[in-house]
Amino acid sequence: MSGILEGKRILVTGVLMESSIAFHVAKLAQEQGAEIILTAFPRPTLTERIAKKLPKPAKVIELDVTNEEHLARLADVVGEELGGLDGVVHSIGFAPQDALGGNFLNTPFESVATAMHVSAFSLKSLTMACLPLMQNGGSVVGLTFDAQYAWPQYDWMGPAKAALEATNRYMARDLGKQDIRCNLISAGPIGSMAAKSIPGFAELASVWDNRSPLEWDLNDPEPAGRGVVALLSDWFPKTTGEIIHVDGGLHAIGA
Ligand SMILES: NC(=O)c1ccc[n+]([C@@H]2O[C@H](COP(=O)([O-])OP(=O)(O)OC[C@H]3O[C@@H](n4cnc5c(N)ncnc54)[C@H](O)[C@@H]3O)[C@@H](O)[C@H]2O)c1
Repeated sequence: MSGILEGKRILVTGVLMESSIAFHVAKLAQEQGAEIILTAFPRPTLTERIAKKLPKPAKVIELDVTNEEHLARLADVVGEELGGLDGVVHSIGFAPQDALGGNFLNTPFESVATAMHVSAFSLKSLTMACLPLMQNGGSVVGLTFDAQYAWPQYDWMGPAKAALEATNRYMARDLGKQDIRCNLISAGPIGSMAAKSIPGFAELASVWDNRSPLEWDLNDPEPAGRGVVALLSDWFPKTTGEIIHVDGGLHAIGA
């Protein structure tokens, strides 16, 4: 039986640990027949070590999404390896410590700017860096944490995710003519490295214990990974500018 990503070439950012959502995206994508290439930050060696746990070997390229030189050479390096791309996964988020954990009213703009640059603007930068490789259309998928609400402790990552969600819609508007779809998975909380760097993350996650219609497992990034793979596949051919919740259904519950 062939997989839903058979023959597709996909660039996956954000593989840092086995707990990374992107690791599960990469694993599932390979299982579903895709050829993948990984990008790494802060060091390729970390990602290379985790990549050994994937079903098949995958090349790793260094990429800091805020580094213009890294972005400028990305298409050449990926092009040499895969010839082109059918999908791009943006699984990147970062905010400085003083932008998280209940310090919202005192965070300096410099820290807000960093959060926005790495977590939101980078969706556009990464996509544009990959655009020369997507001549036959493609699918760009990112990860958000529902920015319709103010959450405990999440602070300036909230506005950064709101910016990411808006960026996704504008990219859908501007890239539709090239048959490039742009969508996000809005995931529930997962105990990854990024999450653990949020002071008071447990308080945020406990909201799911009480309100999620479906049982939510903080230690299971696979459901979010499956959502990403579905959006990379040909099974959402006319869906773009969309945000699909993989959050146990919590977004639908008022109290
Ligand atoms: N963990 C959660 O609870 C949760 C929930 C919803 C959405 N998300 C989102 O999922 C995505 C992946 O996060 P994760 O939970 O797998 O955590 P993670 O820590 O495993 O992944 C975050 C990734 O961002 C990368 N990154 C940070 N700065 C970068 C830069 N300058 N250039 C390139 N890459 C950079 C890191 O290398 C890391 O791989 C993020 O967008 C995150 O906001 C996470």
